[in-house]
Amino acid sequence: MERTFLMIKPDGVQRNLIGEIVARFERKGFQLVGAKLMRISKELAETHYAEHKERPFFRELVSYITSGPVFAMVWQGEGVIETARQMMGKTNPKEALPGTIRGDYGISVGKNVIHGSDSPESAEREIALFFKEEELVDYPKTI
Ligand code: CMP
Repeated sequence: MERTFLMIKPDGVQRNLIGEIVARFERKGFQLVGAKLMRISKELAETHYAEHKERPFFRELVSYITSGPVFAMVWQGEGVIETARQMMGKTNPKEALPGTIRGDYGISVGKNVIHGSDSPESAEREIALFFKEEELVDYPKTI
């Protein structure tokens, strides 16, 4: 079954949006198979965001994502990678539609509430970066 990596960023955690965001994915019908509140080290941040290394905002991005706790999650379900991205909305909250997470809660492109994997390859890479296999709980979805 398809899995994706989602992470509520420091602004989302600070603003008490964990429950609200988790509820959206639960109600949609996806299954939570791993979650933890954690601080990201500088090394993990740089590895996670390695594809943005040459961008002018890279330092700012690493500094921001390590500035406070994040809530890292693995969600499972049919088409979860693409659907989760639709539910999050565009990266820049100013362009994200109302009804999406970033459209409803975000203001700036840096503090955009949530991160989600953009492809099966990045989902696999990001899940492995943040979670050990034994931290993921495989259980039958009965409904
Ligand atoms: P995310 O999905 O976590 O992946 C990369 C992040 O870079 C993105 O969300 C944004 O938060 C961030 N980002 C993109 N463009 C900018 C920018 N111009 N300034 C600061 N951060 C940015």
